[in-house]
Amino acid sequence: MSGGLGGGLSVERVEELPDHEMAELCEATDAAIIEGGGFGWVEPQGRAALERHFRGALLVPERELLVARLDGHVVGSVQLVRPPRNNEAQAFGATLTHAYIAPYARGHGLARLMIGRVEERAAALGHRVLNLDVRETQQTAILLFETMGYVRWGTHPAYARVRGQTVAGHYYYKLLEPPGRGRSTERLMGRGENG
Ligand SMILES: CC(C)(COP(=O)(O)OP(=O)(O)OC[C@H]1O[C@@H](n2cnc3c(N)ncnc32)[C@H](O)[C@@H]1OP(=O)(O)O)[C@@H](O)C(=O)NCCC(=O)NCCS
Repeated sequence: MSGGLGGGLSVERVEELPDHEMAELCEATDAAIIEGGGFGWVEPQGRAALERHFRGALLVPERELLVARLDGHVVGSVQLVRPPRNNEAQAFGATLTHAYIAPYARGHGLARLMIGRVEERAAALGHRVLNLDVRETQQTAILLFETMGYVRWGTHPAYARVRGQTVAGHYYYKLLEPPGRGRSTERLMGRGENG
């Protein structure tokens, strides 16, 4: 899975990363953390810790890593997390997490492209719902998710602690339509015509 809008933008699911791209990914991640988020981390972690995180994520069967590139350089990433196999009741849903673009690569449309790719991938894997949550302080991300059709269904008042402050977090979902000719998700939920 890969693709871009032209202008050097691309988003691709990766199953392994060469060393130089891992270095770019870690640099982008620390730059995003320093600027204020996109990951659970509050403090920059450095190459070794971040590399352990990403190498670990690549090994987890329920996790997929997509990286965003600008002019061929890795500048951000996002993870798609699928429910574990024993969770049959929630198998129709998946979670988008850890989405960020390095500050030096923002404003080109990469995040919008990246979220769209995660949606396509989740739908192709058979998921009908994509869930995500975000700190209330991440205003750009909130605007982006809301303009992409994510529905806020709740707010957790004690979602995170950042530098001694308790921060609320918003929870969102978006219904995904199946690729091809499956029954529409709205109908599956009993909302469409004739249930
Ligand atoms: C949110 C984030 C991923 C957006 O990345 P980006 O690549 O700059 O976003 P895009 O260029 O795709 O822009 C998407 C939308 O964001 C908004 N946006 C982008 N840059 C903006 C800016 N400087 N000021 C205000 N809004 C802005 C616009 O609404 C834009 O919509 P448009 O396509 O209609 O213009 C990035 O700011 C980021 O990493 N933030 C910190 C991490 C975070 O909050 N992650 C989400 C938690 S899961």
